[in-house]
Amino acid sequence: MKAWLCENPTGVEALQWKELPQLQPGPGQLRVSIRAASLNFPDLLIIQNKYQMKPPLPFVPGTEFAGVVEAVGDGVKGFKPGDTVAAFTGTGGFATEALVPAPLALPLPAGFPFEDAAAFICTYATSHHALIDRAALQAGETVLILGAAGGVGTAAIQIAKAAGARVIAAASTDAKCLRCRELGADATINYTTGSLRDELKALTEGRGPDVIYDPVGGDLAEAAFRSIAWRGRYLVVGFAQGQIPALPLNLALLKGASLVGVFWGEFAKREPQRNADMMKTLGHWYAQGKIKPVIDQVLPMEDLPLAFSRMSGRAVVGKLVVVNQ
Ligand SMILES: NC(=O)c1ccc[n+]([C@@H]2O[C@H](COP(=O)([O-])OP(=O)(O)OC[C@H]3O[C@@H](n4cnc5c(N)ncnc54)[C@H](OP(=O)(O)O)[C@@H]3O)[C@@H](O)[C@H]2O)c1
Repeated sequence: MKAWLCENPTGVEALQWKELPQLQPGPGQLRVSIRAASLNFPDLLIIQNKYQMKPPLPFVPGTEFAGVVEAVGDGVKGFKPGDTVAAFTGTGGFATEALVPAPLALPLPAGFPFEDAAAFICTYATSHHALIDRAALQAGETVLILGAAGGVGTAAIQIAKAAGARVIAAASTDAKCLRCRELGADATINYTTGSLRDELKALTEGRGPDVIYDPVGGDLAEAAFRSIAWRGRYLVVGFAQGQIPALPLNLALLKGASLVGVFWGEFAKREPQRNADMMKTLGHWYAQGKIKPVIDQVLPMEDLPLAFSRMSGRAVVGKLVVVNQ
């Protein structure tokens, strides 16, 4: 097998595309031949030793992928060689094969393309858990999505629209704003050129958004939270800008608003049945055409460093996928 190996977590430059021995599935594991993997922001952090999870060295990065089961370990039930699956394993995906604990493998319905499957689990699960479960978003409410053209952002646009909400998508360039409107956003704000607060006031007739979805953090957070509607819910999803904001708590009091933490990975571990039910719902929505991963570019697995540089350069709309040919 071949894999991008991280022996020294100092960034993309230290990754090496290496020949390694074939993986042998242990009890309860599947060996999956990887056809496609996608990049998620934590992939960028983990190879720089900046993520909360620090795998023992050396490790193969790659949170999420899809492929074909090649071999199954002792005790595995419900999977056989030839089955197609997607998996979110946290590491191992930037390779030609990976070991997957059977409970983490999601069987793919016939005809589900590997590229879509590899770009599905993390972004849609995070955004559904955030908007529907944590914020209890209602039809007719207004949602502000920051970093709306990113991976979780584009999923959030589609999920909020599927739930009947009005979507204000905010992003850093006019081109990203245009793509967000094409994806269904009702209105957009370019937060590089405009004032987030003034534009939100104008777009909501002074009320403010009911729900704010924030995967960016940094200095956008306080301006957004100051604009939230009465009884608003502010979803703390991530800090792609790199800075964890500190918010004055009097703002929560003044608006009767809630600050709501979102940690999909922990939710999936602590509440596996609710997570499985949610994944089933998302599978139905995909089959009905309500949601579809926005894939910016598909690159060969060997071009992973290029994919990482596009992601860190904020040059991506939706998801980057790398494939084994
Ligand atoms: N809480 C959870 O359960 C959970 C699950 C998955 C991901 N996350 C978090 O959500 C965040 C987004 O993840 P993602 O996979 O959607 O990433 P992504 O596709 O790279 O999107 C991140 C967006 O953040 C904006 N951004 C602002 N400053 C940035 C900077 N300095 N570098 C990079 N992007 C910047 C960019 O939009 P503009 O250029 O338009 O500003 C970009 O589109 C990450 O912090 C990730 O860790 C959280």
